[in-house]
Amino acid sequence: MWKGVLIWAIFFASAASAQNLKISVYYETLCPDSIRFLVNEFYPTYQDHAEHMEVDLVPYGKANATNSSGSWVFQCQHGPAECYGNKVHSCAVDLYPVNQSTEFVVCAMSSTNASSDVNLEQCAVTANISWTTLQECISSGQGDELLAANGRRTDELIPDLINFVPTIVFQDVFNNDLHTVALNNFGSIYVYLLEQVHCGFCHFNGSGGLIGSVKAQNVKVSVYYETLCPYSANFLVSQFYPTYQNHAGQMEVDLIPYGKANATNDSGTWTFECQHGPAECYGNKVHSCALHLFSIEQSTEFVVCSMNSSNATSDTSSELCATSSNISWTTLKECVSSNQGDELLAANGRRTDKVIPVLINSIPTIIFNDVFNNELRNIAASNFENIFWFLYEQIQCEYCYFSGSAARIGSATFVLGIAILLLMVEL
Ligand SMILES: *[C@@H]1O[C@H](CO)[C@@H](O)[C@H](O)[C@H]1NC(C)=O
Ligand SMILES: *[C@@H]1O[C@H](CO)[C@@H](O)[C@H](O)[C@H]1NC(C)=O
Ligand SMILES: *[C@@H]1O[C@H](CO)[C@@H](O)[C@H](O)[C@H]1NC(C)=O
Ligand SMILES: *[C@@H]1O[C@H](CO)[C@@H](O)[C@H](O)[C@H]1NC(C)=O
Ligand SMILES: *[C@@H]1O[C@H](CO)[C@@H](O)[C@H](O)[C@H]1NC(C)=O
Ligand SMILES: *[C@@H]1O[C@H](CO)[C@@H](O)[C@H](O)[C@H]1NC(C)=O
Ligand SMILES: *[C@@H]1O[C@H](CO)[C@@H](O)[C@H](O)[C@H]1NC(C)=O
Ligand SMILES: *[C@@H]1O[C@H](CO)[C@@H](O)[C@H](O)[C@H]1NC(C)=O
Ligand SMILES: *[C@@H]1O[C@H](CO)[C@@H](O)[C@H](O)[C@H]1NC(C)=O
Ligand SMILES: *[C@@H]1O[C@H](CO)[C@@H](O)[C@H](O)[C@H]1NC(C)=O
Ligand SMILES: *[C@@H]1O[C@H](CO)[C@@H](O)[C@H](O)[C@H]1NC(C)=O
Repeated sequence: MWKGVLIWAIFFASAASAQNLKISVYYETLCPDSIRFLVNEFYPTYQDHAEHMEVDLVPYGKANATNSSGSWVFQCQHGPAECYGNKVHSCAVDLYPVNQSTEFVVCAMSSTNASSDVNLEQCAVTANISWTTLQECISSGQGDELLAANGRRTDELIPDLINFVPTIVFQDVFNNDLHTVALNNFGSIYVYLLEQVHCGFCHFNGSGGLIGSVKAQNVKVSVYYETLCPYSANFLVSQFYPTYQNHAGQMEVDLIPYGKANATNDSGTWTFECQHGPAECYGNKVHSCALHLFSIEQSTEFVVCSMNSSNATSDTSSELCATSSNISWTTLKECVSSNQGDELLAANGRRTDKVIPVLINSIPTIIFNDVFNNELRNIAASNFENIFWFLYEQIQCEYCYFSGSAARIGSATFVLGIAILLLMVEL
């Protein structure tokens, strides 16, 4: 006899053509750094990811514009030829679809002189852009207006921009660290950010209609560290903890004490060797136990307190920190002196080994959202809050909703990955 039927439908949808990642490049035509960036850094990545890249090219650079008695006068860093080149580029960007104007701009920047008519005309042909139309844009004064508009956009970025041309901006939010690493590692940063803005999955609760939003996704922060490493202590106390205090609600904390160590299991007994000796192995074990046995809030307080003490591996410090984070020192001690402490530390070793050889280069290693990116790691080591907050704001799923048979994210169509229907029948 049927007493009741519960139908649970769980849909995991993965993003097919979800969000694009916007990249703005503020540049000037005769600037060697702009040329190098657009040709060697930007373009190869663009070729691989054009369909997900929202390209925004802003030719202007370190220039200024005045409008005296109704006519625009521009001064550019590399002289009048550069102003002219910037104007032609502005026209192409404004008048043609982005794929054509991007080909045009990169072609011109690859040429011997991105401001000379010979090269500009050739590149127009290459990009199927009408050279006549570009010339009209210049002679009609439209080019002046477009360049002046690029000047206003560029000025909005000052004083950031004036320090360096080109300036790279992701998702309309200037971040100096990302700009700096993008100059030489654009592909790596771009791919990381692109993967992260794509919503991993949407979770539907099965009762139809509008379902959950995963917009408020937390950013997961994994810190691989070791107890006697001064860099680990400095990072956890001075970088991680202040950010954690400000944004605990937006952060998923994942601490992995182990570091540059190794573990062997000879005849059923674990033996560990640690970079800073046996005391460090012991400290790592105490931290592993705290993280396993107590809430993440308590163990995070414990870890930071311990790393801020004069010796993170001494029982005196551990006991004090246990007390201040409402952790039972007795329970912690029991774990450390039993096999459990060994097993937990060995498990942290297995996790750490997975990120080797990346990890062995540098402790602490910081990983956002389970995807290691060396550029982000370097930024995070000294500017953690800044990069954390950029990622939190930018790495967000669009609003997820369910309409009819198609799961959608924002305005982009989702492909239903797995659909699981469980019929739970109660007799
Ligand atoms: C600047 O000068 C142009 C003529 O080149 C004129 O059309 C335009 O209205 C002026 N703009 C401003 C903001 O003064
Ligand atoms: C305008 O830009 C030129 C070229 O970068 C610079 O030499 C000049 O000092 C600037 N003038 C003003 C008023 O900012
Ligand atoms: C630009 O994209 C359109 C479709 O959006 C395509 O038809 C055209 O061939 C592309 N042109 C170039 C130069 O890639
Ligand atoms: C580029 O071409 C323009 C126009 O022909 C010329 O005025 C300028 O001097 C050239 N610049 C360089 C760096 O060759
Ligand atoms: C070039 O652009 C024209 C329109 O301006 C279009 O009719 C033609 O098909 C394009 N050619 C190529 C090869 O994309
Ligand atoms: C599923 O989500 C909808 C919309 O938020 C809500 O009204 C409903 O109660 C939820 N059902 C379950 C079983 O959680
Ligand atoms: C390692 O040794 C411990 C005893 O310390 C034993 O309980 C465990 O099963 C061993 N684990 C592995 C993976 O060999
Ligand atoms: C194990 O780790 C210690 C400390 O980092 C190191 O000195 C030793 O060479 C390592 N041994 C092996 C076999 O990797
Ligand atoms: C670290 O210890 C110092 C004093 O030793 C203290 O002033 C500071 O607040 C502590 N920092 C944290 C994050 O606990
Ligand atoms: C930290 O304390 C442990 C245990 O008391 C001791 O073995 C170790 O030498 C100390 N390390 C430092 C750097 O003071
Ligand atoms: C400390 O932890 C105990 C349980 O282990 C709990 O009952 C108590 O409320 C906690 N105290 C504080 C101040 O959080």
